[in-house]
Amino acid sequence: MMRKINDLDITKWKELNDIWTDSLWLIPQRDNSGAHNANYHGNFVPQIPHQLLARYTRAGEFVLDPFSGSGTTLIEAQRMGRNSIGIELQPFVANEAIQRVHSEQKSNLIADTFVDDSRTFDIRRITNTYKINNVQFIIYHPPYWDIIKFSDDENDLSNSKTLNDFLENFRKVVKNTSAVLENGRYCAVVIGDKYTNGQLIPLGFYCMQVMQQEGLTLKATIVKNFEHTKGKSNQQALWRQRALKNGLYIFKHEYIFLFKK
Ligand SMILES: C[S@@+](CC[C@H](N)C(=O)[O-])C[C@H]1O[C@@H](n2cnc3c(N)ncnc32)[C@H](O)[C@@H]1O
Repeated sequence: MMRKINDLDITKWKELNDIWTDSLWLIPQRDNSGAHNANYHGNFVPQIPHQLLARYTRAGEFVLDPFSGSGTTLIEAQRMGRNSIGIELQPFVANEAIQRVHSEQKSNLIADTFVDDSRTFDIRRITNTYKINNVQFIIYHPPYWDIIKFSDDENDLSNSKTLNDFLENFRKVVKNTSAVLENGRYCAVVIGDKYTNGQLIPLGFYCMQVMQQEGLTLKATIVKNFEHTKGKSNQQALWRQRALKNGLYIFKHEYIFLFKK
Protein backbone atom coordinates (compact mmCIF):
# COMPACT_ATOMS: atom_id res chain seq x y z
CA MET A 1 0.00 0.00 0.00
CA MET A 2 1.24 3.51 -0.81
CA ARG A 3 2.38 5.41 2.28
CA LYS A 4 0.49 8.60 3.05
CA ILE A 5 2.45 11.79 2.49
CA ASN A 6 0.19 14.10 4.50
CA ASP A 7 -2.25 14.07 7.38
CA LEU A 8 -5.23 15.25 5.36
CA ASP A 9 -8.39 13.19 5.54
CA ILE A 10 -9.36 13.11 1.88
CA THR A 11 -12.70 11.47 2.71
CA LYS A 12 -13.58 14.86 4.23
CA TRP A 13 -12.29 16.80 1.24
CA LYS A 14 -15.22 19.20 1.29
CA GLU A 15 -14.01 20.49 4.65
CA LEU A 16 -10.44 21.15 3.50
CA ASN A 17 -11.19 24.71 2.42
CA ASP A 18 -7.90 26.11 3.70
CA ILE A 19 -5.87 23.81 1.44
CA TRP A 20 -5.18 25.40 -1.93
CA THR A 21 -5.37 23.22 -5.03
CA ASP A 22 -5.36 25.92 -7.74
CA SER A 23 -2.15 26.81 -9.57
CA LEU A 24 -2.66 30.55 -8.99
CA TRP A 25 -1.97 31.75 -5.46
CA LEU A 26 -3.24 35.26 -4.83
CA ILE A 27 -2.16 36.02 -1.29
CA PRO A 28 -3.62 39.35 -0.15
CA GLN A 29 -1.48 39.72 2.97
CA ARG A 30 1.49 37.99 4.53
CA ASP A 31 0.98 36.14 7.80
CA ASN A 32 2.80 38.32 10.32
CA SER A 33 1.72 36.40 13.39
CA GLY A 34 4.06 35.51 16.26
CA ALA A 35 7.72 35.15 15.29
CA HIS A 36 6.99 35.79 11.60
CA ASN A 37 7.88 39.21 10.22
CA ALA A 38 8.92 40.80 6.95
CA ASN A 39 12.12 42.38 8.30
CA TYR A 40 14.50 40.13 6.35
CA HIS A 41 14.61 41.60 2.86
CA GLY A 42 13.97 38.64 0.54
CA ASN A 43 12.08 36.32 2.87
CA PHE A 44 8.96 34.61 1.60
CA VAL A 45 5.45 34.71 3.01
CA PRO A 46 4.75 31.95 5.58
CA GLN A 47 1.72 30.85 3.57
CA ILE A 48 4.10 29.23 1.02
CA PRO A 49 5.74 26.72 3.39
CA HIS A 50 2.40 26.33 5.18
CA GLN A 51 0.55 25.13 2.09
CA LEU A 52 3.39 22.90 0.92
CA LEU A 53 3.97 21.26 4.29
CA ALA A 54 0.24 20.65 4.76
CA ARG A 55 0.03 18.71 1.50
CA TYR A 56 3.40 16.99 1.31
CA THR A 57 4.44 16.16 4.88
CA ARG A 58 3.07 14.47 7.98
CA ALA A 59 3.48 15.48 11.61
CA GLY A 60 6.82 14.32 13.01
CA GLU A 61 8.55 14.19 9.60
CA PHE A 62 11.67 16.20 8.63
CA VAL A 63 11.75 19.28 6.40
CA LEU A 64 14.98 20.72 4.98
CA ASP A 65 15.49 24.32 3.86
CA PRO A 66 18.98 24.81 2.31
CA PHE A 67 18.53 28.63 2.04
CA SER A 68 16.82 29.13 5.37
CA GLY A 69 17.44 32.88 5.80
CA SER A 70 15.17 34.33 8.48
CA GLY A 71 13.68 30.92 9.29
CA THR A 72 10.18 31.25 7.84
CA THR A 73 10.07 27.53 6.93
CA LEU A 74 11.32 26.51 10.37
CA ILE A 75 8.75 28.63 12.22
CA GLU A 76 5.93 27.25 10.10
CA ALA A 77 7.16 23.64 10.31
CA GLN A 78 7.37 23.87 14.09
CA ARG A 79 3.85 25.26 14.33
CA MET A 80 2.63 22.38 12.18
CA GLY A 81 4.38 19.70 14.24
CA ARG A 82 7.17 18.96 11.74
CA ASN A 83 10.90 18.79 12.49
CA SER A 84 12.93 21.25 10.44
CA ILE A 85 16.57 21.82 9.50
CA GLY A 86 17.90 24.95 7.83
CA ILE A 87 21.23 25.63 6.17
CA GLU A 88 22.23 29.29 5.93
CA LEU A 89 25.52 30.86 4.87
CA GLN A 90 25.39 33.93 7.08
CA PRO A 91 25.99 33.17 10.78
CA PHE A 92 24.23 36.29 12.03
CA VAL A 93 21.12 35.60 9.95
CA ALA A 94 21.00 31.93 11.00
CA ASN A 95 21.43 32.73 14.69
CA GLU A 96 18.81 35.45 14.68
CA ALA A 97 16.40 33.08 12.88
CA ILE A 98 16.90 30.23 15.32
CA GLN A 99 16.26 32.52 18.28
CA ARG A 100 12.95 33.58 16.76
CA VAL A 101 12.02 29.99 15.95
CA HIS A 102 12.81 28.86 19.49
CA SER A 103 10.83 31.75 20.97
CA GLU A 104 7.73 29.87 19.78
CA GLN A 105 8.91 26.40 20.79
CA LYS A 106 6.34 24.45 22.79
CA SER A 107 7.32 20.84 22.13
CA ASN A 108 10.31 18.53 21.63
CA LEU A 109 10.34 19.05 17.89
CA ILE A 110 13.71 19.68 16.28
CA ALA A 111 14.24 23.09 14.67
CA ASP A 112 17.90 23.66 13.93
CA THR A 113 20.15 25.58 11.55
CA PHE A 114 23.60 24.72 10.24
CA VAL A 115 25.76 27.68 9.23
CA ASP A 116 27.37 26.51 6.02
CA ASP A 117 27.51 26.60 2.23
CA SER A 118 24.70 24.36 0.97
CA ARG A 119 26.73 23.43 -2.11
CA THR A 120 29.43 21.69 -0.10
CA PHE A 121 27.86 21.10 3.34
CA ASP A 122 28.37 17.49 4.46
CA ILE A 123 24.73 16.45 4.28
CA ARG A 124 25.41 13.34 6.42
CA ARG A 125 25.79 15.69 9.37
CA ILE A 126 22.00 16.05 9.32
CA THR A 127 21.23 12.34 9.09
CA ASN A 128 23.93 11.49 11.66
CA THR A 129 22.97 14.22 14.12
CA TYR A 130 19.27 13.39 14.14
CA LYS A 131 19.66 9.65 13.50
CA ILE A 132 17.41 9.68 10.46
CA ASN A 133 17.84 8.09 7.02
CA ASN A 134 16.39 10.98 5.05
CA VAL A 135 14.10 14.00 5.02
CA GLN A 136 10.56 14.09 3.63
CA PHE A 137 10.42 17.54 2.03
CA ILE A 138 12.89 20.16 0.80
CA ILE A 139 12.03 23.77 0.05
CA TYR A 140 14.54 25.72 -2.05
CA HIS A 141 14.27 29.51 -1.94
CA PRO A 142 17.58 30.62 -3.45
CA PRO A 143 18.61 34.22 -4.12
CA TYR A 144 17.06 35.34 -7.40
CA TRP A 145 20.63 35.52 -8.70
CA ASP A 146 21.82 39.09 -7.96
CA ILE A 147 18.49 40.93 -7.48
CA ILE A 148 19.20 41.13 -3.73
CA LYS A 149 22.84 40.88 -2.62
CA PHE A 150 22.56 38.94 0.62
CA SER A 151 26.23 39.27 1.64
CA ASP A 152 29.77 39.88 0.41
CA ASP A 153 30.61 36.20 0.75
CA GLU A 154 31.80 34.79 -2.59
CA ASN A 155 30.00 31.53 -1.76
CA ASP A 156 26.69 33.38 -1.64
CA LEU A 157 24.65 32.49 -4.75
CA SER A 158 23.68 36.16 -5.07
CA ASN A 159 27.35 36.90 -5.84
CA SER A 160 27.50 34.48 -8.78
CA LYS A 161 29.31 36.33 -11.58
CA THR A 162 27.29 35.06 -14.53
CA LEU A 163 23.92 33.43 -15.09
CA ASN A 164 25.69 30.19 -15.84
CA ASP A 165 27.64 30.38 -12.56
CA PHE A 166 24.39 31.01 -10.68
CA LEU A 167 22.69 28.01 -12.27
CA GLU A 168 25.70 25.75 -11.68
CA ASN A 169 25.84 26.87 -8.03
CA PHE A 170 22.14 26.16 -7.68
CA ARG A 171 22.70 22.74 -9.29
CA LYS A 172 25.40 21.94 -6.71
CA VAL A 173 22.98 22.75 -3.87
CA VAL A 174 20.27 20.57 -5.40
CA LYS A 175 22.65 17.67 -6.08
CA ASN A 176 24.09 17.82 -2.56
CA THR A 177 20.84 18.17 -0.64
CA SER A 178 18.35 16.15 -2.71
CA ALA A 179 20.47 13.10 -1.92
CA VAL A 180 18.78 12.99 1.50
CA LEU A 181 15.23 13.40 0.18
CA GLU A 182 13.28 10.18 0.63
CA ASN A 183 12.38 8.50 -2.65
CA GLY A 184 8.81 9.20 -3.72
CA ARG A 185 8.67 12.43 -1.71
CA TYR A 186 8.43 16.05 -2.84
CA CYS A 187 10.47 19.25 -2.99
CA ALA A 188 9.74 22.77 -4.24
CA VAL A 189 11.64 25.73 -5.68
CA VAL A 190 10.40 29.26 -5.01
CA ILE A 191 11.90 31.79 -7.43
CA GLY A 192 11.17 34.81 -9.62
CA ASP A 193 12.59 36.15 -12.87
CA LYS A 194 14.69 39.25 -13.49
CA TYR A 195 15.51 41.86 -16.08
CA THR A 196 19.09 42.64 -17.14
CA ASN A 197 19.67 45.54 -19.54
CA GLY A 198 16.08 45.44 -20.73
CA GLN A 199 16.17 41.69 -21.34
CA LEU A 200 14.02 39.28 -19.34
CA ILE A 201 16.06 36.48 -17.77
CA PRO A 202 13.63 33.64 -16.96
CA LEU A 203 15.51 32.46 -13.88
CA GLY A 204 12.50 30.46 -12.74
CA PHE A 205 12.37 28.31 -15.84
CA TYR A 206 16.14 27.87 -15.89
CA CYS A 207 16.07 26.62 -12.29
CA MET A 208 13.12 24.39 -13.12
CA GLN A 209 15.24 22.83 -15.86
CA VAL A 210 18.16 22.29 -13.49
CA MET A 211 15.84 20.36 -11.17
CA GLN A 212 14.64 18.19 -14.06
CA GLN A 213 18.21 17.59 -15.20
CA GLU A 214 18.97 16.40 -11.67
CA GLY A 215 16.35 13.69 -12.06
CA LEU A 216 13.40 15.29 -10.26
CA THR A 217 9.96 14.99 -11.85
CA LEU A 218 8.03 18.22 -12.35
CA LYS A 219 4.56 17.91 -10.78
CA ALA A 220 3.23 21.49 -10.69
CA THR A 221 3.97 25.06 -11.71
CA ILE A 222 2.30 27.52 -9.37
CA VAL A 223 2.19 31.25 -9.99
CA LYS A 224 2.06 33.40 -6.87
CA ASN A 225 1.43 37.13 -6.67
CA PHE A 226 3.47 39.56 -4.70
CA GLU A 227 2.53 43.09 -3.85
CA HIS A 228 4.49 45.44 -1.66
CA THR A 229 7.93 43.99 -1.06
CA LYS A 230 10.16 45.88 1.34
CA GLY A 231 12.48 46.97 -1.50
CA LYS A 232 9.85 48.29 -3.85
CA SER A 233 7.24 49.78 -1.54
CA ASN A 234 8.30 53.40 -2.05
CA GLN A 235 9.08 53.05 -5.69
CA GLN A 236 5.75 52.07 -7.26
CA ALA A 237 5.48 55.22 -9.35
CA LEU A 238 9.07 55.02 -10.53
CA TRP A 239 8.69 51.38 -11.60
CA ARG A 240 5.47 52.20 -13.46
CA GLN A 241 7.08 55.12 -15.26
CA ARG A 242 10.04 52.92 -16.25
CA ALA A 243 7.77 50.12 -17.43
CA LEU A 244 5.76 52.50 -19.61
CA LYS A 245 8.86 54.17 -21.00
CA ASN A 246 10.66 50.93 -21.84
CA GLY A 247 7.69 48.83 -22.96
CA LEU A 248 8.19 46.34 -20.11
CA TYR A 249 6.05 44.87 -17.34
CA ILE A 250 6.53 45.15 -13.58
CA PHE A 251 6.96 41.76 -11.92
CA LYS A 252 3.96 40.96 -9.75
CA HIS A 253 4.45 37.22 -9.65
CA GLU A 254 6.93 34.50 -8.84
CA TYR A 255 6.93 30.73 -9.23
CA ILE A 256 6.65 27.72 -7.05
CA PHE A 257 7.80 24.62 -8.94
CA LEU A 258 6.89 21.34 -7.32
CA PHE A 259 8.85 18.13 -7.92
CA LYS A 260 8.79 14.49 -6.90
CA LYS A 261 11.89 12.38 -6.37
C1 LIG B 1 15.86 34.23 -0.81
S1 LIG B 1 16.69 34.09 0.73
C2 LIG B 1 15.77 32.88 1.61
C3 LIG B 1 14.78 33.52 2.54
C4 LIG B 1 13.99 32.54 3.39
N1 LIG B 1 13.07 31.75 2.60
C5 LIG B 1 13.19 33.32 4.43
O1 LIG B 1 11.96 33.27 4.43
O2 LIG B 1 13.83 34.04 5.23
C6 LIG B 1 18.16 33.21 0.26
C7 LIG B 1 19.11 32.92 1.42
O3 LIG B 1 20.15 32.05 0.95
C8 LIG B 1 21.35 32.37 1.62
N2 LIG B 1 22.45 31.80 0.80
C9 LIG B 1 23.02 32.29 -0.32
N3 LIG B 1 23.96 31.47 -0.78
C10 LIG B 1 23.99 30.40 0.06
C11 LIG B 1 24.76 29.20 0.11
N4 LIG B 1 25.72 28.94 -0.79
N5 LIG B 1 24.52 28.32 1.11
C12 LIG B 1 23.56 28.58 2.06
N6 LIG B 1 22.82 29.71 2.07
C13 LIG B 1 23.02 30.60 1.07
C14 LIG B 1 21.32 33.88 1.73
O4 LIG B 1 22.17 34.34 2.77
C15 LIG B 1 19.83 34.14 2.01
O5 LIG B 1 19.58 34.21 3.39
